[in-house]
Amino acid sequence: MTDKFDPYAVIGNPIAFSKSPLIHMAFARTTGQDMEYTKIEAPLGGFAATVEAFRQAGAKGINITAPFKLDAFAYATQRSARAELAGAANALKFDGAHVLAENFDGVGLVRDVVHNLGASLRGKRVLLLGAGGAARGALLPFLAEGPALLVIANRSIEKAEQLAAIGKQHGTVQAARYEALQGQTFDVVFNATSASLRAELPPVPADVFQACGLAYELAYGKGVTPFLRLAQNAGVAQLADGVGMLAEQAAEAFSWWRGVRPATAAVIQQLTVPLV
Ligand code: ATR
Repeated sequence: MTDKFDPYAVIGNPIAFSKSPLIHMAFARTTGQDMEYTKIEAPLGGFAATVEAFRQAGAKGINITAPFKLDAFAYATQRSARAELAGAANALKFDGAHVLAENFDGVGLVRDVVHNLGASLRGKRVLLLGAGGAARGALLPFLAEGPALLVIANRSIEKAEQLAAIGKQHGTVQAARYEALQGQTFDVVFNATSASLRAELPPVPADVFQACGLAYELAYGKGVTPFLRLAQNAGVAQLADGVGMLAEQAAEAFSWWRGVRPATAAVIQQLTVPLV
């Protein structure tokens, strides 16, 4: 039997606007892989049953998006170290009775920053806004780059403190309240809050951008969000959103499933919403 049309999918709720099928089918075309990749909306509370049905149909793997990343983590029989650390999975691979969990969000982000945007984090002062799932996934991949300091700011300070405690074996990490950022400057600032999804601005003082070379919004396709506007007005030279992160985490999952690494430049170009 050949591996013709191995089924993959992204599962979420809602799922209608997911770009993952477009990205993975483009990867499949350019690497010559015979696979299909669809999107599946699972009912809330119905993740496991939906995945079971898809596995019955021969599924080889899935991506997982909100709100099911914790369900996917729980569903797995084996978890990578970065999935363990994030406490969440964004990709599963099915191997007989085994379900392997991975989380490529953080490595995809770092790959975008370093390879696509040409910005090093090594020796830099890095500010991470937010301490939810997105920030958690970025924590260890950021620290692996060797920044001089990583500051995690969050409204609920205890969540930032929890992340800082996890990160401190791996680098210099501090938790901070937004007010405490007044007068501090950073080389790179990431917005990993969900504020931009509602066109809100996290309460970050504009001071943080004074010496900043890159402001990065993890959300994608929103154009210039309030966070990016603040950075732009403060004179930050390079602005980016999460389109490259999206493509790079997809490429990581694709390589993990298929054993071949796709090029990402064309899909990034296709999905980019200009930041003007
Ligand atoms: P995600 O998976 O996108 O990270 P999440 O786990 O629900 O989503 O986390 C949302 C993050 O965005 C949290 O850090 C939240 O801050 P609190 O923990 O203090 O609630 C942050 N957030 C959401 N809206 C925000 C806003 N308007 N200003 C600042 N932070 C915000």
